[in-house]
Amino acid sequence: MSSINYSERIPNNVNLAEDRTLQRALEQWQPNFINWWDDVGPEGSTNHDVYLRTAVSVDPQGWAQFGHVKMRDYRWGIFLNPGDASREVHFGDHKGQKVWQDVPGEHRANLRRIIVTQGDTEPASVEQQRHLGLTAPSMYDLRNLFQINVEEGRHLWAMVYLLHKHFGRDGREEADALLQRTSGDVDNPRILGAFNEKTPDWLAFFMFTYFTDRDGKFQLSALAESAFDPLARTTKFMLTEEAHHMFVGESGISRTISRTCQVMNELKTDDVEKIRAAGVIDLPTIQRYLNFHYSVTIDLFGADQSSNAASFYSSGLKGRYEEGKRTDDHVLKGQTYKVLEVQNGQLVEKEAPMLNALNEVLRDDFIKDSIAGVNRWNKVIEKAGLPMRLTVPHKAFNRQIGALAGIRMSPEGKVISAAEWEGRKDEWLPTPDDRAFVASLMGRVTEAGKFANWIAPPVMGINRQPVDFEYVRFG
Ligand SMILES: [Fe+2]
Ligand SMILES: [Fe+2]
Repeated sequence: MSSINYSERIPNNVNLAEDRTLQRALEQWQPNFINWWDDVGPEGSTNHDVYLRTAVSVDPQGWAQFGHVKMRDYRWGIFLNPGDASREVHFGDHKGQKVWQDVPGEHRANLRRIIVTQGDTEPASVEQQRHLGLTAPSMYDLRNLFQINVEEGRHLWAMVYLLHKHFGRDGREEADALLQRTSGDVDNPRILGAFNEKTPDWLAFFMFTYFTDRDGKFQLSALAESAFDPLARTTKFMLTEEAHHMFVGESGISRTISRTCQVMNELKTDDVEKIRAAGVIDLPTIQRYLNFHYSVTIDLFGADQSSNAASFYSSGLKGRYEEGKRTDDHVLKGQTYKVLEVQNGQLVEKEAPMLNALNEVLRDDFIKDSIAGVNRWNKVIEKAGLPMRLTVPHKAFNRQIGALAGIRMSPEGKVISAAEWEGRKDEWLPTPDDRAFVASLMGRVTEAGKFANWIAPPVMGINRQPVDFEYVRFG
């Protein structure tokens, strides 16, 4: 089951050839996918040979193979982690029952919605990143961008397979619609807010892959617990690929900071104008980008109290992050969780039923995970002997969703007036001037082993190749 059949048009480890109807339906969807890739995938990349990893097995040891391929010829396919015949639902009202191989009728609408919402984010990010290749700071970074793009394409395949196999005609219609919505489109946008934002430059790209791909990690982890076994097995394999995306973000920001600190020490200055004049990104601008991407991303977890979240959990559709490692009863009835709200101009904590607060639980797990990497960035600054530190803003800062939506709040968590917000928001969120400055640094570097001035080289290359390896052969 874990070996992947590459002799078929659609590589898969789900015995697709045995289900002719399904195979035909997916083979009809495939050219639409390729058209979508040609239309809104990485711009100007058609003739490049890119050193990509391709999934060849779902065995954790040696699941991927590396080689130069044209992205259009990337073997997108359908890979599920191996099944476990004895697997049981381990949370919610169905705890202890056998997991489901098919969709129960009463959960059909909710499961379809969960899969469509997840599936929609995958092509969205490819669309958001489509121009970045034209300003890649190195061949190494360009390759990483393309690796992420093809894998997000594969994640779309993963969700489309579930829709086609388990949801009949409306599943096929949803699969078509996934190729019709477009990130940022006024008439037919992507479903979630953060996936309609622009990713205009590489600082935004690294922040996106650090924070927003990490949202993906937490959503996928929660779905990997699902009682609907095909969804659990699919998302488990997607998580294997996701780790690299977050690595690209974390190391990209780390290298940016490292180069900035080097210049600050050379010039013995923390004057933003002087730092910018030297062609590197000042730390306050990095902090503002961080504030933006962090706040937009934590909105993706949804309203802090949600009856949908409760029913998704109780009915076994979506668990918590690392459900199996938790020591409570995995039913959560009668338990409570702290959520925030504003009372008389002050933020106050209040207890909400835990089941209704599961979006907040997942958001808080995400926050913990995010902060760990920010602390690693601070180590880079500390090692350079500089006093500034990056922080994540308060979780009520710049929120658009839930009880905290629209509240004027400083990054430290103080409720402020609309006038104070207007007066100070340029200290806290990227300004048009910041974005124009960052954009001014974005120039394409195509020579192997060379890096743009604003970013340090990585410590090592990909798949033990040297840093100056020819990661992209420009055709
Ligand atoms: Fe993804
Ligand atoms: Fe990703």
